[in-house]
Amino acid sequence: MPVDIVVGGQAGDEGKGKIGAYLAHKNDYDYAIRVGGPNAGHTIFYKGAIYALKTMPAGFVNKRTKLVLGAGTYVIPEWLEKEIKLTNAGHRLIIDPHVVVIEPRHTAAERADARMMGKIGSVGTGLGAAVRDRIDRKKLMFAKDHPRLKKYVKDVPQLLNKALAKGSKMLLEGTQGMKLSVLHGEYPFVTSRDTTASTFMGEAGLGPKYAGEIYAVFKPYVTRVGPGMVAKEVKDKKALNKYHTAGREVGSVSGRLRRVGEFEMDVARMTVSINSATRLAITHIDLLDGADISRGVKSFTGGAKKFMATLEKVCAVYPYPKVKLVSYGPGLMDVLEL
Ligand code: IMP
Ligand code: MG
Repeated sequence: MPVDIVVGGQAGDEGKGKIGAYLAHKNDYDYAIRVGGPNAGHTIFYKGAIYALKTMPAGFVNKRTKLVLGAGTYVIPEWLEKEIKLTNAGHRLIIDPHVVVIEPRHTAAERADARMMGKIGSVGTGLGAAVRDRIDRKKLMFAKDHPRLKKYVKDVPQLLNKALAKGSKMLLEGTQGMKLSVLHGEYPFVTSRDTTASTFMGEAGLGPKYAGEIYAVFKPYVTRVGPGMVAKEVKDKKALNKYHTAGREVGSVSGRLRRVGEFEMDVARMTVSINSATRLAITHIDLLDGADISRGVKSFTGGAKKFMATLEKVCAVYPYPKVKLVSYGPGLMDVLEL
């Protein structure tokens, strides 16, 4: 089926951007589609440069791929424009007319809300405030009304569905992860949207029939930038430091040092079920011992081998996903395909 989907299996920051970029590079999709808000960052190390993106799809790395923002996307125009420049991909960008513009008043309202910023640990981009206005049917600015965005606007559902009829292949890039879903996550420590595959399809204007491979992305440990549950949280300063330096576990939008905990089997199993994941993509395996793939070693030993063995329990959940990709470094091609 033509639409591959990338979802997060933890609390966001699993490396969905990296996996999306790798897939786009390998699979030559006609379209890479993104939904969600600029509270979610994805970092891509590509051709010696670091692209810290919030809105442009990771699929920009494939020059042939058209880049689409679905109706479930919320943008801060100035941030998007910076990314258009950085990726030099404005000519490939298509924006749904119903993409919502996050206005300065949204960002200000969220940042002034002590409960949101404190208890919930909001990233403070204003996404939640904009979502609330949309649900309240308040006056909003849409991409079609924005003087600098309207040149990118096209009827995305019609365009994508016509393309599907002609056999086009697509990559749908989701945001955040299982633990942060407002429907299935650890409420109230969640984001303002659902973060699962079916919702991403709906937010793009695609029906469920066209879902292809569904990649659930996991790290061998869990990180969280905000408050909320983290199993067996690492408190030891020295141990944490390794994650924050070698693992680059610093919030790409919030700049906060990420909290770190143990791999959560129950959340991983739930991710497979709710997303009907067909493939697992593991990132940051290099933080474990015994994963020296970069030095030409082809099989795992030590901690990495042990972790890969525990994944069998995740693969035992219907629809029985296969471990397909294992990322062992930040570079686009630092991926072992199984
Ligand atoms: P908000 O969606 O910015 O209001 O944040 C709500 C919760 O989700 C907070 O704990 C945030 O830190 C977390 N969160 C939001 N977006 C991301 C993300 O992209 N990665 C990781 N955590 C996120
Ligand atoms: Mg992120």
